[in-house]
Amino acid sequence: MKRKTLTQFLIEQQREHAALPAEVRLLIEVVARACKAIGHAVGKGALGGVLGSLESENVQGEVQKKLDVLSNEILIEANEWGGHLAAMASEEMETIHRIPNRYPKGEYLLLFDPLDGSSNIDVNVSIGTIFSVLRAPRDSAERDLTEQDFLQPGSQQVAAGYAVYGPQTSLVLTVGSGVFGFTLDREMGSWVLTHEHIRIPEDTREFAINMSNMRHWAPPVRRYIDECLAGTTGPRGKDFNMRWIASMVADVHRVLTRGGIFMYPWDAREPSKPGKLRLMYEANPMSMLVEQAGGAATDGTRRILDIQPTALHQRVGVVLGSRNEVELVTRYHRE
Ligand code: AHG
Ligand code: MN
Ligand code: MN
Ligand code: MN
Repeated sequence: MKRKTLTQFLIEQQREHAALPAEVRLLIEVVARACKAIGHAVGKGALGGVLGSLESENVQGEVQKKLDVLSNEILIEANEWGGHLAAMASEEMETIHRIPNRYPKGEYLLLFDPLDGSSNIDVNVSIGTIFSVLRAPRDSAERDLTEQDFLQPGSQQVAAGYAVYGPQTSLVLTVGSGVFGFTLDREMGSWVLTHEHIRIPEDTREFAINMSNMRHWAPPVRRYIDECLAGTTGPRGKDFNMRWIASMVADVHRVLTRGGIFMYPWDAREPSKPGKLRLMYEANPMSMLVEQAGGAATDGTRRILDIQPTALHQRVGVVLGSRNEVELVTRYHRE
């Protein structure tokens, strides 16, 4: 049977779920097209002169990679003129990007991590793009928006998704009625529906964490990982496997595909920071996807989607994936 394209899928979603406004469908198609362009640039590697770092640092204090900046520009240029957005925000931009007055403004806000897993760019390991869609305030046509307009809890997201630039180029998406996966047909240049209603198994034997931070973890995290490592003779009574790709999109894609628990918890290296990952354009979109797939996502104790943001680039601890494991970590934090 002929597989559906992203366009056909979105039109059918719009027909079935009146909650999917035409503007959101247009927005997702524009972002998906931009991800195709980013994936094309990524695929060129050294041949396209896109590897390596720039002299610049971003607001996160990270040295920017050429692809961080190129991906950000591709997403800005693709989304500025369409009339579906009131403003944008990105890991790579200190403050929000308003729609220039020469273009019409829309009713949505787009937030993105244009290139996730930057430390993997130069070593040819999977990287990706993460995006989140929020509603703009009703009066957004009458005034200049501010950062404050973006500070909505993740539960307010209208849509969320990511692209993975790996052996396949994948797009994983939710508009609030389940999680769907698309594979890029590189000959035709179209996103083809290949995974319907992705579900995360409630249990797992696979954890993902950067073990080099072990001595800096809080006791409940240390206890949880120690018990995973104790295997069949330990309190968990089963052996665990470990994976850590250091691209959130690739680690979360594995969790969505075969289960697992992904953790980037608070650690004592920078005690004032709640974690490394950013709430608005990493943790929130991934948490919406994980919950839509039957998993759970917390900061160790609180549901991530309930967190009221206070700053555009604020960080948060992340524990997400197979529901029973995430709940065990929460229990250890509360004991
Ligand atoms: P980004 O490349 O967008 O800055 O994000 C990198 C993040 C995330 O993708 C990954 O899970 C984590 O950093 C890896 O951190 P470590 O290198 O400390 O393991
Ligand atoms: Mn990232
Ligand atoms: Mn990034
Ligand atoms: Mn970065």
